[in-house]
Amino acid sequence: MSLDSYYKDHWVEIEPERLERYEAQFILGNRGDRLLAPADIAAEQVVADYGCGPGYLSVELANRVGPMGHVHAFDINADFVERTRKRVADEGLAERVTVTHLESDMLPLDDDCLDRLVIKNVLVYVDDPLASLREFRRAVRPGGKVHAIDSDFYMAAFDPIDIDDWRHVLDAGIHAFRTPAIGRKMYGIALGAGFSEVAVEVVAVPDFTGRMLSFIINTAGYAREGGRHDEAVVSRVVEVASRAVEEGTFFALNPQFLVTATV
Ligand SMILES: C[S@@+](CC[C@H](N)C(=O)[O-])C[C@H]1O[C@@H](n2cnc3c(N)ncnc32)[C@H](O)[C@@H]1O
Repeated sequence: MSLDSYYKDHWVEIEPERLERYEAQFILGNRGDRLLAPADIAAEQVVADYGCGPGYLSVELANRVGPMGHVHAFDINADFVERTRKRVADEGLAERVTVTHLESDMLPLDDDCLDRLVIKNVLVYVDDPLASLREFRRAVRPGGKVHAIDSDFYMAAFDPIDIDDWRHVLDAGIHAFRTPAIGRKMYGIALGAGFSEVAVEVVAVPDFTGRMLSFIINTAGYAREGGRHDEAVVSRVVEVASRAVEEGTFFALNPQFLVTATV
């Protein structure tokens, strides 16, 4: 894989173990209400889920829009498209969710056809976040909202991992993220995309159980694939984090920036 396009290629092709880790990592759980509140999702809306992953958010959105609403789910990974189709079918929601495999950053949707577009932990990976937000604004009707949720990977904090060790792993694996500081940048990018109103909230839920361990293991994998790492440091980070999870002493905080932009 070329490091230049790694941030996208590593989603198009996901090795089996990482795919399985995502099944557990992306469960929405009880954070869903807080993350979605500013989007104001309601019955009968037409909503897009951009970068749907294994489909947990698509199911949540389909439940919220009800039988008279519709969800358009999109992803660039073919396995996630299949998993989302299966997940919504298993929940009896297939009729109200259309799942589409995307091969570009353009939406196969008419102008002004959506009430809401939700993009959760995906803007960090797109080629050009400003172009994507402009494209989303095109597809959302006047008065509708684009709700972007994302991390700022320079603000994630872990303990008891050594601060410099973690910074080494992040720097060595940084090619996996197109815009790693997307959290702090989304406000300015949304203003630049021409939305009429842009609101920002930050939700930070401490992780004591090791939910973020998959992210640490994945980032260690990206660092190893990049080949610019010190293996002793990368191994130490994974070992310290894994041991802390086993011993119940793990702590992580990965603030989620919620940017709600009105068309
Ligand atoms: C971190 S996961 C988030 C999945 C889901 N939104 C969630 O929060 O559970 C990122 C997702 O975005 C998808 N993705 C990455 N780049 C994309 C792009 N340019 N267009 C559409 N989907 C993309 C990946 O395949 C993956 O499913």
